[in-house]
Amino acid sequence: MSTIKLITGIPGRRSREWMRRRENAVPRAAYHVTPIFIARAEGAVIEDVDGNRFIDFAGGLGCLNVGHRAPGVLAALRAQLDRYLHSCFHVTPYEGYVRLAERLNALTPGDFPKKTLLVNSGAEAVENAVKIARAYTRRPAVICFEDAFHGRTLLTLSLTSKTHPYKSGFEPFVSDVYRIPYAYCFRCAYSLEYPACRVFCAHHLEDTFKRVVAAESVAAVIVEPVLGEGGFVAPPPEFLPVLRDICGRHGILFIADEVQTGFGRTGSLFACDRYAVEPDLLVTAKSLGGGLALGAITGRAEVMDAPAVGALGGTFGGNPLACEAALAVLEMFNAAPGGNKSAHDPVDLVARANWVGERFRVRARDWQARWPLIGDVRGLGAMQAIELVRAPGSRQPAEAETEAVVRQCYEHGLIVLSAGTYANVIRLLVPLVITGEQFEEGLAALERALESVCESKSRADGGTLPAH
Ligand SMILES: Cc1ncc(COP(=O)(O)O)c(C=O)c1O
Repeated sequence: MSTIKLITGIPGRRSREWMRRRENAVPRAAYHVTPIFIARAEGAVIEDVDGNRFIDFAGGLGCLNVGHRAPGVLAALRAQLDRYLHSCFHVTPYEGYVRLAERLNALTPGDFPKKTLLVNSGAEAVENAVKIARAYTRRPAVICFEDAFHGRTLLTLSLTSKTHPYKSGFEPFVSDVYRIPYAYCFRCAYSLEYPACRVFCAHHLEDTFKRVVAAESVAAVIVEPVLGEGGFVAPPPEFLPVLRDICGRHGILFIADEVQTGFGRTGSLFACDRYAVEPDLLVTAKSLGGGLALGAITGRAEVMDAPAVGALGGTFGGNPLACEAALAVLEMFNAAPGGNKSAHDPVDLVARANWVGERFRVRARDWQARWPLIGDVRGLGAMQAIELVRAPGSRQPAEAETEAVVRQCYEHGLIVLSAGTYANVIRLLVPLVITGEQFEEGLAALERALESVCESKSRADGGTLPAH
C-alpha cells in the first residue's frame, strides 16, 4: 500500500493561506525548502494541513534519526512533564543532565576520563568547544575547512565556509580563524587523485603552520568527519587520522563536529568511530534531542575543566525535557554492544543506517550509469548523496536542475533536501526508522524526479538523452 497520498495539488489551499501569513509575519531570510505546512508526523511520514501525506527524506534537517515522535522519546517526555519543566541547571541541578553527561562520556570515542557540557543548539556547542579549547591551550587561532558548516552565530559563521547566502552582508567576522581545503576528492583543491595523492590535503596542514599561522598559536582544528551542508563529502580513510596525528604533535586540540554525522547517521554511533579517531572534543546536537533542541560538548576531562567556575553555561542549556528525550534516544541506539533492545523501539538503528546507505548506493549507481547529470555518488552509512553536474566530466554544478529535482519530489510526495557549496547535491537525511516499503517508495519518487529533469534538460540542450 502506498504511503504517499496527495489529495490536493501541492501546496494545497491551507498551506497557501499559511504561506501568505508567514510572508507577512516572518522575515524572508528564514527560508524553507518546501511550501508545505506540517500538521502531524510519525516515523518517516509527514501529513500536511491539507491532508496530503509525504515520505520524509529530510528528518527535520537531520534531527530525527530516531524518527518523528519516537515512542521511547514520547514516553520519556510524558514522564518528565509530570515532574517539572525547567529549573535551570545553574540554580537547582537535576538528575537528567548528569545522567546524559555520563552516557555521552561513556559512548563517545576515546577510553579516557571525559566530561560533557549541555547547550541548546549545534552552533552554541561549537562556540563553546572553541572557547574551551582557547581556555585550555591559551592560544587564539582555530583552523577550519573549506566547505565546512558550523552554524550561523558570528563565531560559527566565521568558521562556516559558504559565502552565499550564509555569510554575505554579516561581516566582519571573528579573527584568528584560518581555512584550508577539505578532502573533497570530486573537486580536489590541488587537482590530485586519491590514492596517488597520499592525502596531500591532510599533510598540507604542516605547511599551513609555516605559511599561514604558527602551530604554537593554534588552539584547535575543527572538522566535520563527513561534510554536511558542504555536500556530504566522506573523506578517504587516512584524512582524519593524519590530521589528528599532526594536531597531537603540536599540542593542538582536535575538535570533531558531529552535529550532523552523530547518532547512527554514518552507520556507527559516531562518524569518528568509522575513521578510528578519538577527538579531544566532540560536538553533537541535531538528532541527540530526538526532536528537541539540545547540543553537547564532550571531551577530555582536563580540557573541559579549563574554564573557571561560572565561565560556561546558559539559562536553558540542557533543559530537563531535552535531557530525558536524549536519554531515550541513546536507549534506542542500544549503544552498549550486545545489550537488550529497548522495549519501545526494537529496530537496530545502526544496522538500519548501513542498510539504507547500501540500498541508496545501488540505486544511485544505476542512475549514474543512465544519466550524465549525476556526477558523483558518495557517502558513509546512511549519509549518502548525489552531486549533479551540467555535462559529463565537466564538474559544472547543475544548481537549477538540483532545485527542480527537489521541487518535483515534494510535488509528488517526497521531501528531500539539497546541499553543497554549489547547491547541486541531493542528500539523504531519512529517519532511520523508515520501513523498507517506505524507503523504496521514496527512492522511486526520487528516480521519477531525476528522470523528468534529465528529459527536460535533454530537450532544452536540443538532443536526445545522452548516455554515458
Ligand atoms: C556540522 C554542523 N555543525 C553545526 C551546525 C549548527 O547547528 P544548529 O543549526 O543547531 O545551530 C550544523 C547545522 O546544520 C551542522 O550541520
